[in-house]
Amino acid sequence: MVIESTEPKKQRTSVRNHAEAIKPFRCKNLIAVIEDPTDMRNIGTVIRNANALGVEKVYIVDPRKSLPDDWQELRGRRSISKTSVSAVKWTFVKRFDSTELCLNHLEEQGFVSAVTSPHVKGKTNVYLHEGDDAQPAKLAVWFGNEQRGISKIAVERCEMCVAIPMFGMIESLNLGTSSGIILYEVTKQRREYQSRYRRGGKKGERAEPLPTFMPREDETA
Ligand SMILES: C[S@@+](CC[C@H](N)C(=O)[O-])C[C@H]1O[C@@H](n2cnc3c(N)ncnc32)[C@H](O)[C@@H]1O
Repeated sequence: MVIESTEPKKQRTSVRNHAEAIKPFRCKNLIAVIEDPTDMRNIGTVIRNANALGVEKVYIVDPRKSLPDDWQELRGRRSISKTSVSAVKWTFVKRFDSTELCLNHLEEQGFVSAVTSPHVKGKTNVYLHEGDDAQPAKLAVWFGNEQRGISKIAVERCEMCVAIPMFGMIESLNLGTSSGIILYEVTKQRREYQSRYRRGGKKGERAEPLPTFMPREDETA
């Protein structure tokens, strides 16, 4: 008689339990878009940030075709898997051949786009802490190329441009770093909103606000 080890099953259960526990804190209908990134480490970092902060999906505009279309294949890419510390395994990532195709897809799904830049771009410019990132029910936050920044076409078709105020001598923050700062603020605002209000069919204020963060495992032990 072969007795199977229960360890992998236990592990699977604890992963499933964790996935269930984090669900209410994740931000549905929030997408981080990376436009034409050239450095795989930045892609991995954005995926890691998105996963850790509860962003639902990551879209990558990849006109150079440096990434595979197939998600499974992308998850297997060592350079991304390593820098994302395997977050790519747990994150929905989709690639697009061009900015236009990505914008078309987002607009068809009813998403509002906000670009990010250290510079003034387009008609409406807000500093990160002053913006209301909770309101658009479906929001896509765009991050630009490491050298050129965000493209003209993305600026033209977005609702606003969000900036992290800069106080140093340098022009901008690194792509991975800025995604961490911006997605932290956006997810914080959206979690606060969704803790108080329901969206969709059952719209309205909740009788009791939901918690906005979950206790760490060592706090509950
Ligand atoms: C290295 S920066 C690109 C710098 C580029 N020279 C430019 O003009 O934007 C890469 C991306 O990080 C984000 N970023 C960097 N600094 C930022 C800031 N202070 N505020 C908002 N986004 C920023 C933007 O998405 C930007 O496109």
